[in-house]
This record gives sequence, structure tokens and C-alpha cells, in this order.
Amino acid sequence: MSLHHRLMIHGSGPNTTDNRRIGVVIRYISPHIRKPNEVRDYGVPMRGNCDRGNFTLCSPPKGLFHPENLLNYQKIGEDQAQVMMAGAKANTAMYSYMDHVKFRAMTDGDAADYAFLTDHEVAHAKGTASRLLKALVELDEGLSGYQITRLDHSLQSATRAERDGADTDWIVSTLLHDIGDIFAPYNHDEYAATILRPFVREQCSWVVEKHGDFQMVYYGQHVGGNPDKREI
Ligand SMILES: [Fe+2]
Ligand SMILES: [Fe+2]
Repeated sequence: MSLHHRLMIHGSGPNTTDNRRIGVVIRYISPHIRKPNEVRDYGVPMRGNCDRGNFTLCSPPKGLFHPENLLNYQKIGEDQAQVMMAGAKANTAMYSYMDHVKFRAMTDGDAADYAFLTDHEVAHAKGTASRLLKALVELDEGLSGYQITRLDHSLQSATRAERDGADTDWIVSTLLHDIGDIFAPYNHDEYAATILRPFVREQCSWVVEKHGDFQMVYYGQHVGGNPDKREI
């Protein structure tokens, strides 16, 4: 590593590997420093009271590739680029973000392309719970005709599991057991089980997968189903 004044001209040799170059730069400044323009800039407080109103203070990242932090990262880069490129004739962004891969056919992708995609997938996967909760809320306006909505039913089920002292796997499974109604009205049980399987133990995803068969015992005779299907 190199520790120097930021106006020191510096550099390093070419990247001779097949992988991208990864650099980390940390700039330390005193909180009394003020920018000569109105553009916002950001900092993470290191020590003492840093809030002099000169910078927007940020918390350290919530986690690796946390969606909230990635958004913030992009915003900071855009704001900083405005300052760094002010007055420049070239219309080039200071930081260019790779926002898609270079290839069209999967066989043409290189290590950098797939590293980029993996990063994206990790960030995307972290948003799964938020997307599922959003979808759960939409169940409030989905299939109706019962005396309560699917959302109410899901909340009731999960609340009962919780009051029963069930563990998190059960509570999550009961909360989301009917999430499949949105896209898979003919096999909503299997659909929900597939969503849950990577996150809960097999016992719980199995029960979700079979819940349609089990509840037939209550009304199978009225809908031409087999009330005893669960015996299988
Ligand atoms: Fe169901
Ligand atoms: Fe249900």
C-alpha cells in the first residue's frame, strides 16, 4: 500500500493477471474541511464529533453487497463525478460503472463478466426476503371469497405458529405457505415449497409442499377431491 498526499502523482504496474484490478482508496480528512461548491460529499466518521455540516455522514456498510449500500455507493460516485469532471470538455463520467456484461452468447463471457454477474446475483438474492414480504402484502388483494384475505390468513397462520412456540423455520413457512397463489393457482403449494426450500429445513418445506393434500380432508368431498389423499 501507499500512504501519500492526494495530490502526489502515483501509479502502479500493469495488471498481468486475467482478473480485474481491484483497488481500495481511503481518504482521510479533517471534519472542518469545507468544499468550495455546493455539491454534496460524503464521509464516514472515524473518531470524535465529525458533524460540522460539511459532509453527509454515512454509516459503515450493513453487509457485503447490501442493496441499500450499493445504491448509496452509486449515488456517492455520481455526486463526486460531478465535482471531479466539472468544466471538463469530455463527456466521460469520472467513474464508469459496468452495468451489463460484454457478451451476448454465454460462451463468449470472460472471468470479469461472470465475476460481475456473481456480484449482482449475491446482491439480488439478499433482497429475496423483502420481495417476498411485498408479494405477501399483495395477497391482500388476490384470491378472495373467503371471510378474510389471503394476507390475513397468512398472518393468522404465522401468528398461531409463533404462539405455539414454533421455531423460525415454521413461522416463516406458515407465513409464506400461500404465496404461490399469485403465480401458480394450480400448484400453489409446490410453488411456495420451492421458494422456501433453500432457507428452511426439509421438514417445513415438505409440509408446505403437501398442505394442499392435507387440507383436502376438510372439504375434499365437496369439490370432487380425495379427502384421504394425505394418507398416501
Ligand atoms: Fe394453501
Ligand atoms: Fe392456506
